[in-house]
Amino acid sequence: MTPERAFRSIVILTGAGISAESGLGTFRDKDGLWTKYDLSEVATPEGFARNPVLVHDFYNARRRNLLEAQPNAAHAALAELERLWDGDFLLVTQNVDNLHERAGSRRLRHMHGELLKIRCDDCGYVTEWEHDLDLATTCPACGRSARLRPHVVWFGEMPLHMEEIHGALQSCDVFVSIGTSGQVYPAAGFVAEVRRAGRAHTVELNLDPSDGHSLFAERVYGPATEIVPDFVARLFAGA
Ligand code: APR
Repeated sequence: MTPERAFRSIVILTGAGISAESGLGTFRDKDGLWTKYDLSEVATPEGFARNPVLVHDFYNARRRNLLEAQPNAAHAALAELERLWDGDFLLVTQNVDNLHERAGSRRLRHMHGELLKIRCDDCGYVTEWEHDLDLATTCPACGRSARLRPHVVWFGEMPLHMEEIHGALQSCDVFVSIGTSGQVYPAAGFVAEVRRAGRAHTVELNLDPSDGHSLFAERVYGPATEIVPDFVARLFAGA
């Protein structure tokens, strides 16, 4: 199936809002994670160096929360879009949860890492991990303890897959941003980057207007489980 509009190449960016209705908290909304925790303590390399136990407790709780969560209709709609799309497709997520892949998404890049993976700060070994992590856990590769950390990108660290993502942004002809407040760079700058390339249709799907909402040509506001399936249906209907 091909969308009736002449879109050949699509990039989709998702943020915490797409997983909100699966029961995973967002960061900056009322009751969001950053209203309850100091991000400089739990989401920076300096915070981890100061108090690794606090950081492990924070991510252990998030890991447990994720293991109880299920993908929702918005994740499912994006997996279906990928399945039906004939052209180039890239789903870029800022989320560290695995709900996109559990819904069936495959052409997916986690630019902020993955909660269900851990990494050894000494030897760089990355492995899947569904348990709590503490200072006594030893690296399965090098055997050292107290060197393992969540495989997530903290503030002040380099996001992952950026070369591939910039390439896709430059060449896409539709860019869709879903469930992100547009406050964290580099993702917050993607819509401007796409506009500079000059040819893509830009769409924001969110509960509320994001910080960069005026840069999007098309904007739809509402819960992701409603507006994302609707958008995907309209895309293929050529509406
Ligand atoms: N449907 C759609 N959008 C929603 C929903 C929903 N049900 N609920 C909330 N939202 C929207 C909010 O309106 C808000 O604009 O999701 C957005 C969430 O914004 P943030 O909490 O700032 O999350 P995000 O943009 O993903 O944060 C970016 O910041 O802390 C870092 O690394 C973390 O990846 C994260 C990054």
